[in-house]
Parts: sequence; C-alpha cells; structure tokens
Amino acid sequence: MRFDIITLFPELFAPLLTSGITRRAYESGLVDVHFWNPRDHAEGNYRRVDDRSFGGGPGMVMLAEPLFKCLSAIRAERQEETPAPLVLFSPIGRALNHSAVAQWSASAGAVLLCGRYEGVDQRFIDHYVDQQISLGDFVLSGGEIAAMALLDTVARLQPGVLNDEGSHQLDSFNPALDGLLDSPHYTRPEVWQGQAVPPELMSGHHAHIARWRREQSLRLTALHRPDLLAQARQAGQLSRQDEAFLRQAFGSLTGADQTPAAKKL
Ligand SMILES: C[S@@+](CC[C@H](N)C(=O)[O-])C[C@H]1O[C@@H](n2cnc3c(N)ncnc32)[C@H](O)[C@@H]1O
Repeated sequence: MRFDIITLFPELFAPLLTSGITRRAYESGLVDVHFWNPRDHAEGNYRRVDDRSFGGGPGMVMLAEPLFKCLSAIRAERQEETPAPLVLFSPIGRALNHSAVAQWSASAGAVLLCGRYEGVDQRFIDHYVDQQISLGDFVLSGGEIAAMALLDTVARLQPGVLNDEGSHQLDSFNPALDGLLDSPHYTRPEVWQGQAVPPELMSGHHAHIARWRREQSLRLTALHRPDLLAQARQAGQLSRQDEAFLRQAFGSLTGADQTPAAKKL
C-alpha cells in the first residue's frame, strides 16, 4: 500500500515513521510513504504556495497551481490504471471511524492532501479531490496531524505489525468485539495503593476471564457509548447472557436511553 502525502511540512512526520511498533510497517515498505512539497512545484524566486483570499478577510489560501503540479508529478510516478483517490483532510469531511479505517487498511493507498492556512482554493477541490476526511468537530492548524492519525491506524492493522497478530481485534470498535469498547486492563503489582486487581483476572480460568472481559465491555459501552450498544443489539450481537448482565447491572435502561451520569464509572 502506498500513501503519497502532499504537505508543506514533511518534517512533522519523521517521529511517526521512526518510533513505536508501527515503524515496522513503514520501514518494511508494507505502508510505503512518500512526501511531496507543493513548494517544490511553485513558481518564482519566492516559490509562493499561498495568496490572499478574494473577497478579503484574514488568512491565506493555498494556491491551486502548485497543488495541481504536485498531484501531476505523483500521478506520473504512481502510473496506476485506476488512480488512487485524492483525500483532503478538512473539517467538512466525514469523521474518521473504524469501518473507514478498516477499508483503508485493505486498500492500495491514497494521495493525502494536508491543507494549511484558511484551506485550499475551492477550484482545486472541486476538480481533483475525491474524498474529504475530518478528525472531528474542531479546527487544526493543518491536515498533517489528521494524515498521521490515518497512517498510524492503518499501519497497526497491517499483518505482522503488532507483536500479537490478533490483538487489534480485541480493541474498541472492532467487529470481533461486536463494535463495543475494550475492557479495562491491569498489570503488576497485584495491589496498588490499596486497590487489588479484579479477582476474575487472577483466576487463571480462561472462560471466566473471557466472560468478565465481555461484561466489562458491555458495562463500559453502556456507560460511555450507548449508541454503540444499541447498534450491537440491533445487529443481534448481544446474547441472552449479555442482556441478562446488562439488566442486572443497569436495570431495564440498557440502550440509548441510559443516563451515564447516574451510573458509577
Ligand atoms: C486552519 S485549518 C482551515 C480551517 C477552515 N478555514 C475552516 O474553518 O473550516 C487548515 C487546515 O487544517 C486541516 N484541518 C483543520 N481541521 C481539521 C479537521 N477537523 N480534520 C481534518 N483536517 C483538519 C485542513 O486540511 C485545513 O485545510
């Protein structure tokens, strides 16, 4: 899989690509990352990549032409029959979630455009951008952090990147967990500041541990993300045992009408 990243600040990515467990994905080329700076495709002594906004107002806008030249150079190098999608990171886009990430992780990659300033000349977006992705309802200074979020989450899903092959399947939102949140984790010492590790985890009984983890996932999801619990229920993924646990833990309110504030975290 190949990602071509259009950014004015490629140096921001260096720590991401060389640190932590996901660096294996980048170093092995499993996730092949290339950087393109629009400044290298800009005209004149000053190699301008931005200009003032027509109509006035504060802030600069990224020029369409250097972006177009940059994209053309990428397309020439990729030489694909079906061009990889051009993704713009933007507050306009659909918020990134697990199912989108799972699709990207099984794809051939993309060209990622990191906006800066007030954003990108709309004419470039209208003609060349295939998809816009948002990190959430807030404004970043640039698309680089969003691009790093996408790279990181895609890299950790690649086979052989995590030490334990199936471990990402036990993470929050994964279909293997029925889209629920992960259960809590504990490590040594067994007692810390007077608080013991839940005895179920110390039992050595695999079935009991698995059941405890499932119930903690159900409990945390009911408290923090009742929408995910409702989805799992609607998809028929909650067993009778799950429903019995939820009734016993929360009474009859175990769906979207649950009021987390009333329950102990
Ligand atoms: C300062 S922002 C521009 C914000 C824009 N004027 C607006 O109000 O929607 C500069 C760049 O950061 C990136 N960006 C900002 N917020 C983002 C978000 N929530 N998700 C993804 N990218 C974002 C985009 O690439 C954007 O072009």
